[in-house]
Amino acid sequence: MRTTAVSLLFLLVQFQDVFAAPTQVPFDSDLVAKRPPRKLRGRFLHLTDMHPDPYYRVGTSEKSACHRRKPKKAKPRAGEHGIPFGDCDSPFSLTNHTLDFIDKKWSEEVDFVIWTGDSARHDNDRKLPRTTKEIYELNRAMARKMEDVFLSKGVPVIPTIGNNDVWPHNIMLPGPNDITFQYSVIWRSFIPFPSFQVFQRGGYFSVDVIPGSVAAISLNTMYFYTSNKAVGGCEVNDPQDPGNLQFDWLEVQLQTFRSRGMQVWIAGHVPPSARNYYPECHVRYVELSLRYQDTILGHLFGHMNVDHFFFLDAQEVTHNGQARSSDALEEDEQDVKKKHKDLYGSLLKNFNHVSKVSNIDHDNYAVVNVAPSVVPNPYLPSFRIFSYNISGSPYVPGDLGVIVDGRGPRGSNAPRPDCLDDLARQNATFEKECHPSGHWNSSPNSPSRRNGLWSPLGFAQYYMPDLNATTNKRKRPPKYKLEYLTFHPSLLHPPSEGARSGFHYPLPLRNLPRSLRNSTVTKSKYAPYGMHDLTIPSWLKLARRLGKAKHKKLRARFRRYMYMGADEER
Ligand SMILES: *[C@@H]1O[C@H](CO)[C@@H](O)[C@H](O)[C@H]1NC(C)=O
Ligand SMILES: *[C@@H]1O[C@H](CO)[C@@H](O)[C@H](O)[C@H]1NC(C)=O
Ligand SMILES: *[C@@H]1O[C@H](CO)[C@@H](O)[C@H](O)[C@H]1NC(C)=O
Ligand SMILES: *[C@@H]1O[C@H](CO)[C@@H](O)[C@H](O)[C@H]1NC(C)=O
Ligand SMILES: *[C@@H]1O[C@H](CO)[C@@H](O)[C@H](O)[C@H]1NC(C)=O
Repeated sequence: MRTTAVSLLFLLVQFQDVFAAPTQVPFDSDLVAKRPPRKLRGRFLHLTDMHPDPYYRVGTSEKSACHRRKPKKAKPRAGEHGIPFGDCDSPFSLTNHTLDFIDKKWSEEVDFVIWTGDSARHDNDRKLPRTTKEIYELNRAMARKMEDVFLSKGVPVIPTIGNNDVWPHNIMLPGPNDITFQYSVIWRSFIPFPSFQVFQRGGYFSVDVIPGSVAAISLNTMYFYTSNKAVGGCEVNDPQDPGNLQFDWLEVQLQTFRSRGMQVWIAGHVPPSARNYYPECHVRYVELSLRYQDTILGHLFGHMNVDHFFFLDAQEVTHNGQARSSDALEEDEQDVKKKHKDLYGSLLKNFNHVSKVSNIDHDNYAVVNVAPSVVPNPYLPSFRIFSYNISGSPYVPGDLGVIVDGRGPRGSNAPRPDCLDDLARQNATFEKECHPSGHWNSSPNSPSRRNGLWSPLGFAQYYMPDLNATTNKRKRPPKYKLEYLTFHPSLLHPPSEGARSGFHYPLPLRNLPRSLRNSTVTKSKYAPYGMHDLTIPSWLKLARRLGKAKHKKLRARFRRYMYMGADEER
């Protein structure tokens, strides 16, 4: 076992090699090293917000955060595997059952795991306040379980820091600090060697998940998040701000991966919406996402506990106002449920806006996918399986685009401070100066734009509709079932009987409901979107349909997936 000091020494010795050699050992872990390379499955798992609670007790009241019996008559009571649509965190029986289920059905079927944080309880029980020690212990327990289920089988896991993985919650000072140190130890088997030093400073890292071809970047969104009052939020005049340092690092990562001809998934806890992020962090996020559109396969986040997607839009870096796509994507711990209802409305408003854009320019958009949580708070436990294309030849990016515009003090990667000023922007001449008008790294042929090697093809979302099953006499644990998938159902099967041999199933048939296993299926209640892939044009097409009021049924499905039926019952 190496010590930190030895690893740093090793890193220094290796430093030049790391940059000279285009390949990187995907995981410097004893658990993985001994295993032969795995054959690609063309799938990965996105798991988020597990929130295990060691104090959870069956039969207690929701009011006590599922910790105590009082008040005696209060309903609902804590069930064996959690309270559906409730306020409590997850009992270990739920997180264990979830990971055991995934172990059995999926661990051999995925290539890597995106794990977007919040692996500690987050209730506000004054009688049992959270402590730093407990938060690390819970994270350690979850990390060991993830090693067991995935890493031991050679499946890389990409963890990210959540706002409840720190104490007090939301607050994280610039690193290196105790938090970055603790997680560098807890996640040692997940963080590759060359990333170790950077992680100890900032709590973020990158890793080749398919060596030389696909990487994942784990962001530390705590430095962008408006609730973290310990940082300034990417202020233009503070180049040492940890958010700015992280974006500077991110840009180098994207540049490096791009020059290696690689594609990248970006993962983080708090999604990059205008309300979640400090304004200048948000602008930098949007700008980098668009400037490296040809290198980024997608953006995967958690935190909101509600299934949705939204766009990062070039207009957000050029002007403010009604075009701010994620304007109302606000998170408020006080009344999560009400905010979630508003979220649906604001998303539809934005989709409606998108539906009115004529001659849509795909260069101007990126898509953020927010996955629902394992914790049944405020909905039901769930997880996502993404499928991606593993055939064809790699996309080769053109020359590195150059930014030519009137941009500010930090050089090409930062917005001018006055470009953030709403009033100044009403001046059209000024507006033009703020528009980053240079060559952006985008291409209609890149995997985020056109279905080719590494393009995301679709996802299947599994949930636990009957979380209460065991409280209803039956002693068997509740089951995870398919909630929906984005695919057109015909894509689940070879185009014809004869084509079966070379066909790669996007989802193993045995993990699908019987009705979808029939190869003649062309319509299904599980597949209302009928998407052919998850490229940016496909998401825009779906959003434009959702944006039109006449598509009542489609809207109803989208809404039901967001709230998992909660607003129909309550
Ligand atoms: C689940 O079961 C508990 C305990 O029996 C009950 O209080 C609660 O209302 C049930 N919830 C749902 C959504 O069925
Ligand atoms: C959950 O799993 C861990 C590790 O496998 C085990 O130690 C623990 O007892 C389990 N807890 C429950 C409630 O199943
Ligand atoms: C608009 O902006 C331009 C460029 O900054 C400036 O020269 C001009 O004076 C402004 N016009 C008004 C009316 O503010
Ligand atoms: C994967 O991309 C190739 C082009 O590189 C395309 O021909 C093929 O149809 C795609 N596969 C799927 C399953 O969409
Ligand atoms: C598949 O579906 C078709 C059309 O609905 C039906 O005729 C056929 O019997 C089904 N096949 C199986 C194996 O269920």
